[in-house]
Amino acid sequence: MPKTLSIVVLISGSGRNLQAIIDSRANNPLLDIKAVISNNPTAYGLKRAELAGIPHFSLPQQNYASRAEFETALMQLIDQFKADWLVLAGFMRLLSANFVAHYPQRILNIHPSLLPQYPGLNTHARALADKAFEHGASIHLVDAGLDSGPLLAQATLKVAEDDTEQSLQERVMALETELYPQVLQWLCEGRLQVEAKTILFDGKALGRALNPTQP
Ligand code: GRF
Repeated sequence: MPKTLSIVVLISGSGRNLQAIIDSRANNPLLDIKAVISNNPTAYGLKRAELAGIPHFSLPQQNYASRAEFETALMQLIDQFKADWLVLAGFMRLLSANFVAHYPQRILNIHPSLLPQYPGLNTHARALADKAFEHGASIHLVDAGLDSGPLLAQATLKVAEDDTEQSLQERVMALETELYPQVLQWLCEGRLQVEAKTILFDGKALGRALNPTQP
């Protein structure tokens, strides 16, 4: 009997990845989005959640005296939903080791580069400045570092001569909005399994990141 996979999604901004995840439920009915939480009260992603009828919450960090207090409130809110996975989709806050340890091997993040290249901000400009041949998006498990946890999946594109920061941003976003639903579907189907120290795909240890754009 197939089991649902429940998630809480954390956002900070426009929520295009969130929208793709919301829309993917049409093809992946096992995916249950329990709640959307934003640290930014004006994030358009909150509106997307509202339009989809998903419980949504704004938790502005400036309302808390310290990062520890903000994270405690965030954990309390998340834990009410007893979700299987925490899905970061454009959540622009670094999470402490304490927070990450509260959800061991159960936090996903998407990043607009082929990690380990270009962790952090301005990935498209940096790829262009380096005349990178390839660029793309990565989904990884979150650890206490910056965009540094074990890679699960990547999607790749070739940088064109006439690419600009804007065109790369759009082309990578198109990859992101395919890749996140795909990874969540693999998790729902049990094809992708993450245990304490092991990542399995179709029952075999994952040697390198899954890459649907490079079959
Ligand atoms: C995406 O590029 C994501 O990879 C990065 O922030 C951006 C968020 O965009 N971490 P959106 O909020 O999903 O539209």
